[in-house]
Amino acid sequence: MCGIVGYTGIQNAAPVLLEGLRKLEYRGYDSAGMAVVQDGRIAVSKVTGRIAGLVEKTEDGRLLPGTTGVGHTRWATHGAPTEPNAHPHTSNDGRFAVVHNGIIENYMELREELTRKGYHFESETDTEVVVHLVEMYYKGNLKQAVMRTSARLQGSYALGIVCADEPGKIFAVREASPLILGIGIGENYFASDVTALVAYTRNAIYLEDGEFAELTPDGIQVYDCAGRPIQKKISRITWDIQAAEKGGYDHFMLKEIMEQPRAVKATMAPRIKGSDIVLDDVDIDLKQINKIVITACGSAYYAGCAAKYAIEKLCRIPVLTELASELRYSDPLIDGHTLLIVLSQSGETADTIAAMRECKSRGAKTLAVVNVVGSTIAKTADWCLYTWAGPEIAVATTKGYTTQLTVLYLFALYAARKLETIDDAAYRKLLTSLKALPKLLQQALDMNPNITQLAKKYHCAYSMFFIGRNTDYAVALEGALKMKEISYIHAESYAAGELKHGTIALIHEGQPVIALCCNDSITEKTMSNIVEVKARGAEVLAVAFKDNQKIVSLADDMIFIPKVNTLFSAAVEIVPLQILAYHVAKENGCDIDKPKNLAKSVTVE
Ligand code: G6P
Repeated sequence: MCGIVGYTGIQNAAPVLLEGLRKLEYRGYDSAGMAVVQDGRIAVSKVTGRIAGLVEKTEDGRLLPGTTGVGHTRWATHGAPTEPNAHPHTSNDGRFAVVHNGIIENYMELREELTRKGYHFESETDTEVVVHLVEMYYKGNLKQAVMRTSARLQGSYALGIVCADEPGKIFAVREASPLILGIGIGENYFASDVTALVAYTRNAIYLEDGEFAELTPDGIQVYDCAGRPIQKKISRITWDIQAAEKGGYDHFMLKEIMEQPRAVKATMAPRIKGSDIVLDDVDIDLKQINKIVITACGSAYYAGCAAKYAIEKLCRIPVLTELASELRYSDPLIDGHTLLIVLSQSGETADTIAAMRECKSRGAKTLAVVNVVGSTIAKTADWCLYTWAGPEIAVATTKGYTTQLTVLYLFALYAARKLETIDDAAYRKLLTSLKALPKLLQQALDMNPNITQLAKKYHCAYSMFFIGRNTDYAVALEGALKMKEISYIHAESYAAGELKHGTIALIHEGQPVIALCCNDSITEKTMSNIVEVKARGAEVLAVAFKDNQKIVSLADDMIFIPKVNTLFSAAVEIVPLQILAYHVAKENGCDIDKPKNLAKSVTVE
């Protein structure tokens, strides 16, 4: 939930840390801070609010000279977003500073123990115990102090630790929170995410849980939890710098919406060879699978809800969709004949990881669909299919969602062919429809210039209802989530057939209802629901195929999408809803890329 970054080298650390923090700000943005080792002491600067405040307070880092330091951008868990609760936290003697991403679960007992021993706490955070433990265990050897401290901690943590007595040195520790080391020449880095490193180096080391690293300007040494040196593979970062910049757009979200045709193509094209779908190293014995469970959180979960229809229809295997936060505690009915599909843009969502581990322990085969290379979910699953979407920075996912759908559609078609549940002609026809997706997404982007006007009409709404049936209902779930998370307008999705079982009581004069009508087989039914809500005064904005004249005569406003096979329609249909949410949020003056109270990577339960 937070972002951490560290630098040791030849330049002043603070500007490098600030640049890294800017890239990590999507992970949390309620307060920020840096600690730099200078002339045998540690100088700290913290602010509440955004990185821009830290830039201003430190005059672009100039007020914190020194060539070794750590930085943090926070999404508050323990204690309000105040300056004392902001990281880095320092020891009572001022000789140590720590930044942390994750949660120390046993911090209460550690805090009591340390208080009894005379350590004074300045914050309400769980993190502060770490720095006091390091001080307590330091006997002239930082590595030993770090190891003894780690052994006392329970929970998830990526830590960056500096010590005034060992200038030029940083320890970076990883346990169940992402941490990547960047290798430079005469300078070295760590960060929560490669986006913070890519401007400086393309050579990275991915730490595993239980490992820690000692960084100096001249090198990086990684150790296992017993302190034994280990050799790590150096990986090449393939994301480019531009991919992590706004590239002329007002917001990352708009840029990422516009990138979708390209991202979907990049995800799909390498996996279609002639008339074959080739899914990397996936060699699941599908004939042994009698149930598929899809688990995820947030939009990734909704991608699962939408793809369920395609997988069931094509493969004739029951597909259950389960929220990861529920699945993990549900004593799930899962065995060796279950395929668990785990969806996650970041690959680091805590509940999703926990649900996956729970199901794995019950024998499930696990297939991950992940965007961030080398992330925990990617590494834990039996097989991983990456969504080649490039970095997604806006908190509200867009290309993450559509590329997840793309992978699942590919999987559905691939599995159906393996299971022989569709014939060759149907397979070829569907493959052609699937290959058209990037082009159709581009058309969906281009064909609705009226959305900015619609946003002007609807932005004052107090609440909105999104209705649809079947695949349209799945899109309604994601459409409503997009609207509420960035525009702060209450939005609810309903299976259109459920309206008359309660929700219709909420329809009144002028109530906006977004009706999704892109599933030919049941559009007539949804149209009846449109008539019902209109009879009660609703203002209906319908989303439909260009040629659907009947809906034009019913609805107050229209958004069109190009004709697309129903099985794959969600990927196209969501596009105008993303744009609508974007423009409504813009009208309302919202902070689109960093909505209040949210964070992109939810690494706490
Ligand atoms: C957060 C993000 C959502 C995302 C969800 C799951 O809530 O704001 O956009 O869908 O986490 O994240 P994941 O990285 O697992 O896809």
